[in-house]
Amino acid sequence: MQPIADLDVLTPVSSAPDVRGEDQPRVLDARAGTNGRSVFIETYGCQMNVADSELVASILGAEGYALAETEADADVVLINTCAIREKAEDRVRGRLTHVRSRKEREAKAGRDIQIGILGCMAERLRSKLLEQERLVDLVVGPDAYRDLPRLLAESRDTGQAAVNVQLSREETYADLAPVRYDTNGVTAFVSIMRGCDNMCAFCVVPFTRGRERSRPVTSILSEVGQLVDAGYKEVTVLGQNVNSYRVDHGGTAVDFAELLYRISLLSPELRIRYSTSHPKDCSDDLLHVHAERPTVCDFIHLPVQHGNSDVLRRMRRTYTREHYLELVDRARAIVPGIAFSTDLIAGFCGETDAEHADTISLMEHVRYDHAFTFAYSERPDTYAARKYSDDVPEKVKKARLAEIVALQRQHSLASTQALVGGLEVVLVEGTSKRSDEQLRGRTDTNHMVVFDRAFDLEAGDYAAVQIHDCTSATLLGSAVRATTLEAETVGLAALEVA
Ligand code: SAH
Ligand code: SF4
Ligand code: F3S
Repeated sequence: MQPIADLDVLTPVSSAPDVRGEDQPRVLDARAGTNGRSVFIETYGCQMNVADSELVASILGAEGYALAETEADADVVLINTCAIREKAEDRVRGRLTHVRSRKEREAKAGRDIQIGILGCMAERLRSKLLEQERLVDLVVGPDAYRDLPRLLAESRDTGQAAVNVQLSREETYADLAPVRYDTNGVTAFVSIMRGCDNMCAFCVVPFTRGRERSRPVTSILSEVGQLVDAGYKEVTVLGQNVNSYRVDHGGTAVDFAELLYRISLLSPELRIRYSTSHPKDCSDDLLHVHAERPTVCDFIHLPVQHGNSDVLRRMRRTYTREHYLELVDRARAIVPGIAFSTDLIAGFCGETDAEHADTISLMEHVRYDHAFTFAYSERPDTYAARKYSDDVPEKVKKARLAEIVALQRQHSLASTQALVGGLEVVLVEGTSKRSDEQLRGRTDTNHMVVFDRAFDLEAGDYAAVQIHDCTSATLLGSAVRATTLEAETVGLAALEVA
């Protein structure tokens, strides 16, 4: 799963504009306040957690809870947590101490504040949080959100902590309409599966989110259809491993390639992205959907984790360096111009200098447009924690990570420089951070573009933008026309015929 921001699963998502836009969290108005309690949801971790918080808002909204604008206003503070690395957990503990001291202060004034832990830390930390630290009123795992209203009532009635961390083999929340409370109105996440069966040696996710299960096709199509009707122009389809999506749909098996194809039939103006795709099941069918469907963006987040086959075997990734490089070459042959981002881990158990050098050489080979890079952090209960020793000294991990980050910076810059002088179709997401006079949006290949306001363009419009400068993270240009995806596709097809 693609993290919210580079090197940073620790930032609450509302301050991660690269994914969420710059809008402030909004108050739920339609169903606000019928039970007199308000809730604030603070979300850490990956996009999956962002999508889950939207489900929680929907579940509690239906029960009459209002969404508070800030934590300080809220009667109920829910922290949707991440356990992927140790630092992520440390940060949540810090937040808990802060919220807990507010609870104590407000209790003296007769106000009853409830604090809940949701998400990936719930299962593992429930006993610690409840018994030893006595910090929270509620601990609710990722498959138990339907139970939240009951648990909130129970903990208020009894004054005891309420817990449900049961993982499920079936729950996909397929029937719930997420409340997109912190939205730019243009881009949205749509969760299509939950859990993970892969058991990569370093990863805690299969323990925190349980077994893999796919959401029925009809409920996905209907949610995307509603987003189209509401004016959304881009969906990112989410799962830990989206390309192992598989359901039986009226007697026919629908896989991820087929699902994307069907989503792409819903609107000629809806861009489609997805995250995350595991290299082991990135099929040629999927690549052909990229090639054939103009709205399926030519960008894949394809985490490699490491560039050495022995390390990949120790990580239990089930592919080799050679398989991965062949896949990248095949993708580039089938979908010319396709862009890649990746995740890389430095300092995994037993990593030698020579093995690390293979990560560097793989990066040179692929030349990723973007990378999320991490120092290995041992997680309890994982295969690596049980079988290997976390033996790369912290200093060495940091130095290898720094080398990876520096190289990626060069590659990111080269990838933006390669677009200077060209014309890009940009979906406008809002105004730029620096100035209201400038707009901001993304290209098909997921590069951020900033350009001066023109042609009455607004969030949700497409613009053809001439690119004339760049940094490693941003393209700078000027709009040459307002456009539509359909017009651009027809235009390109006409050029090809000519
Ligand atoms: N399902 C996604 C990954 C989800 S976690 C996939 O398989 O690609 C996001 C990223 O966090 C991973 O790709 C990995 O690079 C990183 N990560 C996971 N566990 C980690 C650990 N123990 N230490 C450091 N980085 C880790
Ligand atoms: Fe973790 Fe591997 Fe599953 Fe990704 S595929 S969530 S890295 S176990
Ligand atoms: Fe995501 Fe963190 Fe859980 S990366 S799946 S929120 S452990």
